[in-house]
Amino acid sequence: MSKYKIALMGGDGTGPEVLAEAVKVVRAAAARCNITLETTDYDFGGNRYLATGEILPDSALDEFRQHDAILLGAIGHPDVKPGILEKGILLRTRFELDQYINLRPVKLYPNVETPIKNKGPEDIDFVVVRENSAGLYTGFGGVQKKGTPHEVAEQCMVYTRFEVDRCLKFAFDVARKRNKTNTLTLCGKTNVLTYVFDLWERAFHAMGAAEYPDIKREYAHVDAITMWMVKNPEWFDVIVTGNMFGDIITDLGAMVQGGMGIAAGGNINPEGVSMFEPIGGSAPKYTGLNVINPLACIFAGQMMLDYLGEQEAADLVETACVDFLKSGTLSGMSAKEIKECGMSTTRIGDDIANRVATL
Ligand code: IPM
Ligand code: MN
Repeated sequence: MSKYKIALMGGDGTGPEVLAEAVKVVRAAAARCNITLETTDYDFGGNRYLATGEILPDSALDEFRQHDAILLGAIGHPDVKPGILEKGILLRTRFELDQYINLRPVKLYPNVETPIKNKGPEDIDFVVVRENSAGLYTGFGGVQKKGTPHEVAEQCMVYTRFEVDRCLKFAFDVARKRNKTNTLTLCGKTNVLTYVFDLWERAFHAMGAAEYPDIKREYAHVDAITMWMVKNPEWFDVIVTGNMFGDIITDLGAMVQGGMGIAAGGNINPEGVSMFEPIGGSAPKYTGLNVINPLACIFAGQMMLDYLGEQEAADLVETACVDFLKSGTLSGMSAKEIKECGMSTTRIGDDIANRVATL
């Protein structure tokens, strides 16, 4: 019997609602697979910050380190200036726990509508490996003469060979493990960012040639890839890219796979504690209405089980989600559509948890 300690951070807005459903489903899978889950709740987020001024204390990070994984709802509060919670909770956890990979599967499930005409589940199934600890996100830079006509602002894209190599290695391994078309596409901007992406490109080919001769290497500029992701999503198997480009193209990826209601990701430290989350935001205007789609968070829970090494439990969750989607109960992924078809956040969670229990 395996036992895991999971930190639960509902966060803001609809975060706690979707997290509750994900936990329901993950628990149902754990019960089937002889897994014991010990959970700890953390209430960091906008409300706590507004009430106490506390964002994320060092002690919480120490406690996170004592867990096997973290499952997150959403971060972002309408009454808190943008950046405070995102940087103070989400990015801080990513950096402090050295979750240097952001893994974002882009998979179109049956019965989920994609805005791309004439493409189906057989065409849309790839993974983006986004570098998650460096690049433009480190805050390298600064501001001078602020508020004057001569204000200078700079924010630099900085990568070390070490950071690039560890990300590439992870991406090559994902491609090998998927064993789909065994192709890894590097997404960069070698025609303009001639220092940073030259480093990425050299490292990519050096590692590929030396250690992954079985994986085909391709390259796409970031602007062009947004075009191909829409026009020919079937070309992609695994895409690897830097932090900022990865942030941007994975929102596009989320839309391609049916929207924020379904897209999940993992902030991964392969040697440490990882954090799983739905990609969408906290959707404050739907808070407490029981209409937000919990599927993205449920898929985050599925990824968590997968990364804990609980393949059987992860597969149960995925199969239950697919069965639920195939049942046609949902008219769409958005809160509006969920309301229209008489579903709710909790009913979706219950339905999927029941399927997990009886599969
Ligand atoms: C994401 C989000 C975050 C990011 C924000 C909220 C800091 O957009 O997870 O993609 O930029 O990484
Ligand atoms: Mn983003």
